[in-house]
Amino acid sequence: IRRGFSSSAVRNVVIKQVTIIGGGQMGAGIAQVAASTGHSVNLVDTSDDILKKSIKTIEGSLKRVVKKKFADKPEAGEEFIQKVLKNVSTSTDVGSAVQGSDLVLEAIVENLKIKQDLFSRLDKLAPAHTIFASNTSSLPISDISSATNRLDRFGGLHFFNPVPMMKLVEVIGTSTTSQETFDSLLNFSKVLGKTPVSCKDTPGFIVNRLFVPYLYEAVRLYERGHGSKEDIDIAMKLGVGYPMGPFELSDYIGLDTIKFIMDGWREMDPDNTLFAPSELMDKLVAEGKLGKKTGEGFYKYK
Ligand code: CAA
Ligand code: NAD
Repeated sequence: IRRGFSSSAVRNVVIKQVTIIGGGQMGAGIAQVAASTGHSVNLVDTSDDILKKSIKTIEGSLKRVVKKKFADKPEAGEEFIQKVLKNVSTSTDVGSAVQGSDLVLEAIVENLKIKQDLFSRLDKLAPAHTIFASNTSSLPISDISSATNRLDRFGGLHFFNPVPMMKLVEVIGTSTTSQETFDSLLNFSKVLGKTPVSCKDTPGFIVNRLFVPYLYEAVRLYERGHGSKEDIDIAMKLGVGYPMGPFELSDYIGLDTIKFIMDGWREMDPDNTLFAPSELMDKLVAEGKLGKKTGEGFYKYK
């Protein structure tokens, strides 16, 4: 099926209640944006401590947003923050969280088996009309959806980090995603204030298929001794105008996520030199140096 921006009569489900599974960098960001645009959001993770941190992240980010948006009206800004936070509830129990949800969006660890296990469980717990979507960076949506019996109500919604700032959402339909589901996801992205692009269910969709090999090649360039991390970062910022250099950005995304993406693609296509491994990346991830989120990656953060 060729999918595009259908201008057909409104056939899509209006998404009001959203459950987001995974309250990490991406899940918290998506929850914030959905709550800010009037959706009722359930945020689910494995522990209350993690969820407390997610809410703190959301609060911190909202403060940055209102500083601009309500520059002359700090009281209205505070009111907005409280209103948004009221739209978010948290839970460690997926079963109760998905009741009444129009959309369940998953943003947990980048691992096919773990995502399949989650969706297979959710399929039995969620109402029949609920649309499922994954925020995966690199895994085929059809591999994830194959664990469920709702192939027509399953698609991809790929956001970018930091979600409150990045305007793009990649909307992915598989060969079994219904047009109604696809349109609902497309519309939901627009209601969140994002610009959607329509993607095929191919590895890395559009952005990551181009961008992750670039990030890895930067690390391999450094490993070959062709430049320091600092110089490579400066070069890419000043030479092509990227806001962050590849090492800064890898630390920002999370080295575990980037490595999981590459490992998965190499397994699918072992001879592709674009997917060649990096010893340094493997070592840092093995040591738990995952970037900004753990305080150290290619660089140290206090
Ligand atoms: N929440 C709210 N506001 C935020 C924010 C957040 N999390 N992060 C930054 N901002 C705001 C700041 O408040 C600031 O606002 P003002 O301009 O009003 O001061 C503005 O953004 C700029 O921030 P900073 O001055 O702190 O720093 P910056 O100019 O470097 O911008 C950045 C930060 C927006 C993150 C920018 O560096 C950037 O765009 N970096 C590249 C990010 C990127 O490429 N993301 C994609 C990663 S790939 C991916 O996500 C896909 C995947 O599957 C792996
Ligand atoms: P993260 O490590 O910050 O957060 C993942 C969260 O999921 C953690 O809080 C973890 O406790 C939780 N989790 C793990 N298993 C769970 C389960 N079974 N049930 C409930 N919660 C569970 O990761 P992230 O950077 O937010 O990435 C999440 C997903 O989004 C991944 O698939 C990643 O590839 C994708 N993604 C990441 C980025 C990025 O820049 N980091 C951008 C776009 C997409």
